[in-house]
Amino acid sequence: MSTVEQAIKYFHDNQKQMTESYFDLVRIPSVSTDPDQHEAMVRAAEFLSAYMQRVGFEKVQIYPTTMHPILFAEKKSVNPNAKTLLIYGHYDVQPVDPLEEWKSDPFHPEFREEYVYARGASDMKGQVMASIFALESVLNSGELPINIKYLLEGEEEIGSPSLEGFIVDHTDLLSCDMILNPDAGMVGKDKPTLVYGLRGMTYFEVRVDGPKADLHSGLWGGNVANPANVLAEIISKLHNPDGSVAIPGFYDRIPPLSQEDKLRISTNKLSEEAVMQITGSPAVYGEAGFTPVERQGARPTLDVNGLYSGFIGEGAKTIIPAYAKAKISCRLVPNQDPMEIFDLAKKYILSITPDTVQVKIFLHSAGPAYLADDAPGAQNLVNAMSEVWQAPVTYKREGGSIPVATVMQRELGVKSLLTGFGLPDDAIHSPNERLHFPTWLKGIETLIRFYLSFGGE
Ligand code: BES
Ligand code: MN
Repeated sequence: MSTVEQAIKYFHDNQKQMTESYFDLVRIPSVSTDPDQHEAMVRAAEFLSAYMQRVGFEKVQIYPTTMHPILFAEKKSVNPNAKTLLIYGHYDVQPVDPLEEWKSDPFHPEFREEYVYARGASDMKGQVMASIFALESVLNSGELPINIKYLLEGEEEIGSPSLEGFIVDHTDLLSCDMILNPDAGMVGKDKPTLVYGLRGMTYFEVRVDGPKADLHSGLWGGNVANPANVLAEIISKLHNPDGSVAIPGFYDRIPPLSQEDKLRISTNKLSEEAVMQITGSPAVYGEAGFTPVERQGARPTLDVNGLYSGFIGEGAKTIIPAYAKAKISCRLVPNQDPMEIFDLAKKYILSITPDTVQVKIFLHSAGPAYLADDAPGAQNLVNAMSEVWQAPVTYKREGGSIPVATVMQRELGVKSLLTGFGLPDDAIHSPNERLHFPTWLKGIETLIRFYLSFGGE
């Protein structure tokens, strides 16, 4: 038996225990944004650290941060000339709300048909564990032909506030020849995918203040501006009727899509029907003049992510709210400057705010887009994917954001292999998040082949 066959056999023989360990990690409610879950964050980092020690990592270290711990681990090849692969992952997850929409407990993973349902099942505890199980299978079947380093953080879903500083301070520790970041995903079950672009993001909050306290709407309604009404007016002016963003200057730095870009991006198919079917929206909506695939990865957007004002409990309460708040994010494409976009948005919003209220705008996070189709190791990964799926690889510009890829390119000088074995209908960040189990198994086999593809070099 070849080493690849032995490693795959090891994986199949141990699939049950491995799946149990994956479930154990998913059971830990590591919601990074929830201050009540700090203990769970520590528990998740400790779980991973213990698992990696068991698998045979020589150096496993937990670094506390001002928020959630970062985990570093290293396993060296016996080959002194071996290349080094750095694997990035995050063990934190998004909040579960609205909880009542879940068909099963978000932190009790449950099999239904071919899927595992749980928060983090796909994004990205499933991906982190897949990369570890593939390595475990290789380590139990022969020599590891590459050095492996792991960098796992617990703050990705809140914008990675501690990670950049950690990378800047530990460039020697993290030095590597290749980076695998399995936090992206596939475009379909039969379509293994290499992501070569990511959108950036500017995330800010708008707060509109009116009266000094909530007022009786009968007593005072008609004499003061209602902050909720005003915020709604402001939001309604952020888009043009053709679906484009109305902030002056928003598109100024974006070059038109080249013919080459258009061609490459069209290897990825996304029909309007698929958009409706996967999202459940009754119709598609988007910037006029662009295809769904272009809108998904190659055009910027502006979206309200959260709105809050007044009485939101059951029943009725007659008030003029004292304030209204909106959380707004822009997904950005290459050449847009995230801080400049913030300034433009701020200037525009201030210019359309009436003097009947006071408005405050503050920044949550800002990170640029990423474009790189030639990350080291790409051919090895593409070969491994096409062997397992017996299908050509799709190249995708992703609409989501993985800011660490830009930071790593700048600080470590290495571009990231962006991939993953989640699917567009995994409902990540939504109720009933799930993982397509057969695709996950193929993903582990892919990573086994990928790690072993560096043998004999
Ligand atoms: N795994 C996602 C990013 C992603 C989403 C990749 C969809 C591929 C397809 C990641 O965990 C995520 O959600 N990131 C945040 C980053 C933000 C908090 C800076 C995002 O994109 O909203
Ligand atoms: Mn993720």
